[in-house]
Amino acid sequence: MDSTLIELYDQAYIPYQSHRLNLELRERVERESRGLLQLVDEIKNKFLGDRDWSELHVAELGGGMGGLSLHLARRGAQVTVVDCSKTALDIHRQLAQMSHLETEQVCLDVTHPEANLSKKFDLLIDSHLLHCIARPAERASYLSFVREHLTPTGFFVGESMVHRKKMFIPPGYRLDEDNILWQKFSDWIPLRKITDSLLLEDEFKNSGFFINYFFYYANFAFAVNQDFLELPGDILPASVRFALRLP
Ligand SMILES: C[S@@+](CC[C@H](N)C(=O)[O-])C[C@H]1O[C@@H](n2cnc3c(N)ncnc32)[C@H](O)[C@@H]1O
Repeated sequence: MDSTLIELYDQAYIPYQSHRLNLELRERVERESRGLLQLVDEIKNKFLGDRDWSELHVAELGGGMGGLSLHLARRGAQVTVVDCSKTALDIHRQLAQMSHLETEQVCLDVTHPEANLSKKFDLLIDSHLLHCIARPAERASYLSFVREHLTPTGFFVGESMVHRKKMFIPPGYRLDEDNILWQKFSDWIPLRKITDSLLLEDEFKNSGFFINYFFYYANFAFAVNQDFLELPGDILPASVRFALRLP
């Protein structure tokens, strides 16, 4: 991923730094990750139900301020938060400390071909990250990173934005013919891949995953932008919730 994009992500977290050690911020990041938590719980109970949380190594990929990780660390899981933003991870560390929770934070670009976490995980959670990776080669590199970091019985779980026929594109953005959403900064930056759900299914299969769950959500399952909450649901992206494993 290019350094401009990493910088943009990092800058987006700077306003939250002043909220450090703030209970309101912790409450907010935990609340906003409840939807994903529900999915993770469902998969854990169904496929890893015989294992206690304390036995599980979990990584939240693109975790940002790591709301989901706070929930999972509280349950006793051994949690690693991975993000390319140092600022987000720093805020997460503060939130974890104020909650007396232990988590590991790793600042990493998961699309880098040499990205490595030096251990494998029972649950790798895509925390709304995959749709942030727009270019095909970077998506392939990320999915290969995931494969290499899953235990043989592990699951890759996540929730990702997908395309629908008619979509609202806010001013300052454009959607190209490959469903890449660009945003105008000083240059145009490829910000999101709002792929088609059937193509996403193929992408997972072609990347060597076995698909256990693949649910299409006609409604937008998570709020990317507070302004979107005011808009009719049928012109917002839909989403897919998935659970994959190694064959
Ligand atoms: C859409 S945000 C999601 C944040 C949070 N998990 C949530 O659900 O609200 C995507 C996150 O992924 C991080 N990110 C984007 N590209 C990345 C990459 N190539 N490697 C690691 N982290 C990345 C961003 O810094 C950001 O925190």
